[in-house]
Amino acid sequence: MTDNDSATGKAMPKAVARPPKGAPQSLPLPRGQLVLVGCGAFAVTQLPNLAVVLRRWYGCRIRACLTDAGSRLVARDALAAATGSPVWGPHWPTDQGMVPHKELADWADMVIVAPATANFVAKAAHGIADSLALSVVTGTAAPVFVAPAYSEHAFARPSTARNLRLLEEEGYHVVPTERAVSVHNGRVAEGGMASMTSLLGFIGRVTSTMDGGDEPRGEGPARAGHGLDEEGARVDGTR
Ligand SMILES: Cc1cc2nc3c(=O)[nH]c(=O)nc-3n(C[C@H](O)[C@H](O)[C@H](O)COP(=O)(O)O)c2cc1C
Repeated sequence: MTDNDSATGKAMPKAVARPPKGAPQSLPLPRGQLVLVGCGAFAVTQLPNLAVVLRRWYGCRIRACLTDAGSRLVARDALAAATGSPVWGPHWPTDQGMVPHKELADWADMVIVAPATANFVAKAAHGIADSLALSVVTGTAAPVFVAPAYSEHAFARPSTARNLRLLEEEGYHVVPTERAVSVHNGRVAEGGMASMTSLLGFIGRVTSTMDGGDEPRGEGPARAGHGLDEEGARVDGTR
């Protein structure tokens, strides 16, 4: 990967639609650069769509990084198309004359991990960095938002609450989980990854207290809750 436009992550020419109520109207991204990390939970299949929406609403440049398990659950080509940039990880491209984890960690104005697995949360909470994705997350000075996804019984374990608490003590912003449909048995259970609108609403509330952030308009993902942004485009479906 070189530092040309495609490796850097193309911005949309500008934000092409205003975000809906409940989502932040802007993100505190001084250089307009956002890193998305995807782990090996089924919800990683939603990551390309999140990238499209973030570029559409905020005009930011995005680089995505996958764990090994994440790279088996989502198509790299879809993520590359959605971000306008080659996908990083799980391998370390050390033959490109750079230090990949530092390159990504320093490039990021913000990192969003969506989804974060139980494994990823436990490791990050303990400062373990045995993958490119974990090295980026543990090694960045940028704010990191972590949206965990658990299986029902893993979520109920005491270690889960402990690790999430530790993660917050480490300064990560932990997005609350939600009841979600299990891909395994079709039942609704606790511990699922936040929906896109909940995730953005949470980021809006946190960043409104940061320099450069602004208040999300209104409480909750009003129109986005209907899956529409202000131009009437579906936010939960891309083509
Ligand atoms: C279809 C599928 C769905 C999975 N969903 C989850 C999940 O929601 N949460 C989780 O913690 N692990 C889930 N896993 C297990 C993780 O992929 C596994 O623990 C892996 O080692 C995580 O690696 P990572 O943290 O490096 O991405 C799932 C695995 C598969 C194959």
